Parts: sequence; C-alpha cells; structure tokens
Amino acid sequence: MSAADPSSNQPAPSSDQASSGQIDHVLIEERLFPPSEAFTQRAVISTQQQYESLYAAAKDDPDTFWRREALEHLHWFEPFDQVCQWEAPDVKWFVGGKTNASYNCLDAHVAAGNGDRVAIHWEGEPGDTRSLTYRELTDEVGKCAAALKSLGIGQGDVVSLYMPMTPELPIAMLACARIGAVHSVIFAGFSADAIADRNNDAEAKLMITADGLYRRGKVLKLKETVDEALAKSPSVKHCLVLRRIGDDQETPMTAERDVWWHDCVDTQPTALEATPLDSESPLFILYTSGSTGKPKGILHTTAGYNLWAKKTFQWVFDHRDDDVYWCTADCGWITGHTYFVYGPLSAGATCLMYEGAPNQPAEDRFWELVEKYRVTILYTAPTAIRTFIKWGDEHVDKHDLSSLRLLGSVGEGINPEAWMWYHEKIGGGRCPIVDTWWQTETGGIMMSPLPGITATKPGSCTRPLPGVVPIIFDESKRPVTGDQGGMLCMAQPWPGMLRGIWGDPERFREQYWETVPGYYLAGDNARRDSDGYFWIMGRIDDVINVSGHRLSTIEVESALVNHAAVCEAAVVGRPDAVKGQAISAFVTIRDREPDEALREELRLHVRKMIGALAQPDEIRFTNTLPKTRSGKIMRRLLRDIAEGKESAGDTSTLEDYSILAKLREQDN
Ligand code: WT7
Repeated sequence: MSAADPSSNQPAPSSDQASSGQIDHVLIEERLFPPSEAFTQRAVISTQQQYESLYAAAKDDPDTFWRREALEHLHWFEPFDQVCQWEAPDVKWFVGGKTNASYNCLDAHVAAGNGDRVAIHWEGEPGDTRSLTYRELTDEVGKCAAALKSLGIGQGDVVSLYMPMTPELPIAMLACARIGAVHSVIFAGFSADAIADRNNDAEAKLMITADGLYRRGKVLKLKETVDEALAKSPSVKHCLVLRRIGDDQETPMTAERDVWWHDCVDTQPTALEATPLDSESPLFILYTSGSTGKPKGILHTTAGYNLWAKKTFQWVFDHRDDDVYWCTADCGWITGHTYFVYGPLSAGATCLMYEGAPNQPAEDRFWELVEKYRVTILYTAPTAIRTFIKWGDEHVDKHDLSSLRLLGSVGEGINPEAWMWYHEKIGGGRCPIVDTWWQTETGGIMMSPLPGITATKPGSCTRPLPGVVPIIFDESKRPVTGDQGGMLCMAQPWPGMLRGIWGDPERFREQYWETVPGYYLAGDNARRDSDGYFWIMGRIDDVINVSGHRLSTIEVESALVNHAAVCEAAVVGRPDAVKGQAISAFVTIRDREPDEALREELRLHVRKMIGALAQPDEIRFTNTLPKTRSGKIMRRLLRDIAEGKESAGDTSTLEDYSILAKLREQDN
C-alpha cells in the first residue's frame, strides 16, 4: 500500500480483459489516507490489534461477545437467558430479557447524573431555536407517552408519524418506544396516497402530524395532506396535531378524531415511566421502496436494534462526551432513526437537529450551522456533497469549520472526486472520512472505516464491523475468490438485523434468504480488494453487460465525475443489438456549455480512465437527476428513458417529475 498523495488524483487505468460472468473491476483507486497520529491517540479504537481482537471475538464466539456488550450497554428490567436463537431466516436476540429503548436513550442518562447535558440543539428553518437537556427530553417524552395512552394506544399498536423535523418528532418516536407502541415514520414529503398505503398496510391506529412545516421559505400544510390520507385509512381512530406554523393559518380539525398536541400532550399532569418490554417487542416499522411493487415495511425490534445502534455509533463515530454531532438525515429515513435518535441518544450524545433545506436562506446554511454550534462530527450523504460542490466553494469559505474532527457519508457510493472535495474543503485535510455501508434492513452500519485506525481509500467502505461476516458469491453461488465482483451476503446474524417485512413473511424469505439459502442477500454487488477492503459496486439489478464485460455503474460514474466539468453522473444500460447492452450516461455539469465538444471530451476521459469498453455510447446533459426523496438516483427511470419507453413503474418517491420530461427531450 502506498501512502496518501492527494496530488495524484488520477486513478490508474487498468487492462480490459473479458471475464466469465463476474463483474469486471475496472477503476483502480490507489490513494490511501491514514488517520493522523493526533486523531488516533484519542480514539475509542486506537490500534489495529484492538479491532482484530474485537472482530475475532464477535465472529468466533458471538454469544459471549454480545452477552457482555448487552449487559454493559443496555438497561435490563429483567435479565435475558439466551443471547441468540437463530434458524434462518428467524432470529431472536437476548431472549427472555426486558428492556426499553426510551429508557436507554433517556432515563439512563438522568440516572447516571447526566440529566443536564444537552441532548438536542434544534434549529428551525426560519431561525427559531430550542435546546433540550436529557432531563427535559425525558419529561417531554414521558408526557407524550401519557398522551398516547389517553388516546387509547397501548403495546403493539402502530402509530404513523408524518411530521416536520422539530423536536416533537423524536419525542413522539421515543414516546411510542416508552409504552411499546410501534412507530412508523413517514417522510413528510410523501403524498396522501403513499400515507394511506402505509397506514393501511400497518393498520395504524393513530396518526401524529403537524399543521404544517417550513421548506425552502414556504409553508407546506401537512394537515391537509393527512386529512386526504385519513379519508382512506379506516384503521386510524385519532390524529394528534402539533402546531408548528401558527394559528394565523386555518387548520381544519375533525371533531372526535383530531386533537391538538398542546391540548393533549402539554397538559398531561405527570410523565410516564418506561414499560419493561420483551427484547423482541417490535420497536418500529419503516417503509422502504422495493425496486418494484409496493413498499416493504421493514420491522425492527427492541433490544438487538438498540444495542446495534449504540455500539455502531460509538465505534464508527468515535464519540466523546464533548462532541457536537450532526446527522443531517431526516427522521423519515433509517439514518435518522439509527444515527439521529437511537444510536446517539443511547450513547448520551449532544445532537444538532435542523428543520430546513441546505439552501435556505442561502447556500451556506449548513456551514453557518457547523460554525454556530461548533459541530465536531458531521454525517451526511453523497448527494448533498455533490450539490455543495455544484454551488461553489465560496459558500464554504465564508465559515470557520475548524471544530470538525470527523466526517461521515451514507446512502450511496461516494465518487472519489466528491470524497476528495469533502476531505479537503470541509475536513481541511485533517478529518477522517467514514464511508458507511448499510441498509434500512441492517438496522445500522455494517461496513465502515474505524476513524482512529483505518487508512481510507476514497470510494471504499473498507472493512466489516465486529459481528458482521460478509461473503461475496458469484452467479453460480460459489464464494468469489480474489478481487472479483459478486453478490454481497451476510453469513452470520447480527443484533440489528431486520426481523421481517410487516405482514409478509413470504416476501421476506424470498427477497433476502432464498438466492443463496441460509445467507442474507443484501441486494448489492461488491468486491474485496487485496487489502481486504470492500467496494460496493451498486445494486445487483444495475450491472451493465457490454460485449460480455460486466461493468458496475458506480465505476463508470466515478470516471465521469472525475472530469472537472461534471458534478453528477448516472449510468445505465440499454439494449443494443451488437454489444448486448450499450452505456447511457446522464450528467449534470458546471462551468461549461453542454455541447458536442464536451460529449467527446467526456467519452475520451472515460476511455482514458477505464478503457474503451466503458466509454458511454450516449451522453445526455441535464440540470438535475431524478432521485428518490432520500437522494438516491432512480436508475430504473433512466433505463426507461434510455430505451425510449414511457415510464410505467412507481414514481411515488421521485422528487421532481418535470426532470423526466426534460431528459426525454434530448436526442443525442
Ligand atoms: C442501499 C440501502 C444506509 C442508510 C441509508 C440508505 C446503498 C448505502 C452506501 C455506501 C455504497 C451505499 C446500497 C444499499 N448504500 N450506503 N456507503 N456505499 N452504497 O438506506 O435506503 O435502505 O438503502 O443504499 O445500495 O443497499 P436504504
């Protein structure tokens, strides 16, 4: 391995031989960034040996390993008598024990004398602020839990949340957890139909929402959307409404059904104690879109998920008591669940929460907040990073970002060029970057650098955390040897793994457990390099086959993004009579005219970096790429466009419909 040389930002091109059904690995990244000595000295995990021994212990004797961690990190009202019961695909962790996630996130810190520590610094989009200590948060959650009970909610009942990013959202989540109700958070950007589908699938009994929210300087009236959804959600008996945008806006309330938060929650005479709950008591359902068909309600339960959230947070984010941690994800996604609520709060962290858009009032809002709150750990997504690059460095340069000590990335692969910008521009070259690979289904981070010890490579999520045993299979379901791409699977159960798809055990088995029987199928392709580092190559469905070469979308995209004029790129395959598949690229650019000369330059650039086989057959310029609301590029839609088809599939999570029309207009 060579030492880091930030100046050599051209990965070496590699040869392009034909392969036998495995995914060709074409883009070689040789830069290496070890953590600074100063970082390592103070890190939670500070030697390679420490990691290796944790990893070996969790792999070879998981019962002993996880028994010790569970006893140390969770509060037990009643002890468990078995660590893990496993018969694929069914798993139970900490069988027979009783705990409570809300207790672990709140009361535990008050009991330990840390009640005055700030749990949440909140900043609303218009600039209103609120800070809550662990003691205050415990009281608020207790009152909300009492209110839920008064509305007839008990253990096992499903509560849908459709709320702005205000403190009441984590308060409501934790209030559900406190009494054993199951929360189902629905991102407050989904349509009435999407809400109704989720309510009906989960048979939700209560809906919690707000009159509205602020987004990009505008008011969105949430209650109107919810009313439309509730007309089609017969299981929902009550709707609890938070006043956010104020009483100058008329909010229709339905008698008997609807009740204001300030009438129902704030008036509770006493806060409610946490209920001791079985380890496997359902904690939440979170709907995630399948590539086809209706959304899946991913189910997570109490003890195993809680422990995984806390441990992975501590390992990956190297958390210390004086940190100010900011995860920019909305609570509507798993990242918000695990790394804004359950992980950091279990660990007693001080978290920043922001309601609004990154360009409200201006493109420097994030950096203004980092400076204002002296944020030390920032966790965000590649789509945001690429957007900041596009907006220009001047917004970053206005602010003092010297408080930052650690940066994280999640949600999709981070292109090496975006990684470099994040490292240099945001991290000042001194902050390790943790590129965390995981999924809604895995509950928490599975593979990531450990910031005190891992020498990072831009674009690699490096190595598995203790308890994670990844294995890559080829198409004939044999473990891959050498640095070859294949299907990423998990060979051992881990505490945070999903327990099922709500109401659909058959789909659960079929989707995750049948392709390679007995192994968890992640649905991503990956390869492992000679240093044992993992590289995620994209979803299994996204592989492109050009003249017998199987290419990963992310590698071609990263080659395009390596060109100075390109901000973002999405690459898909379309049928081609000669080559099997041809490569279509969709790119957003900056500081250049979208003309034929640039197209040719980009083709040559990819050719130089990867080889002729990866050269796009067509390149379309666009202002934005179609993305899910959580920021993932919707390649399925781009495939349809590349093939000239009208898109028939589900577009319920697409952020901007007009993009599709614009993309279709272009002919190459
Ligand atoms: C899929 C899971 C993980 C929480 C947010 C998304 C992709 C996620 C990475 C990464 C490459 C990544 C994978 C994965 N993905 N993180 N660091 N590098 N790809 O959760 O919506 O359940 O999506 O996101 O394809 O399977 P999700």
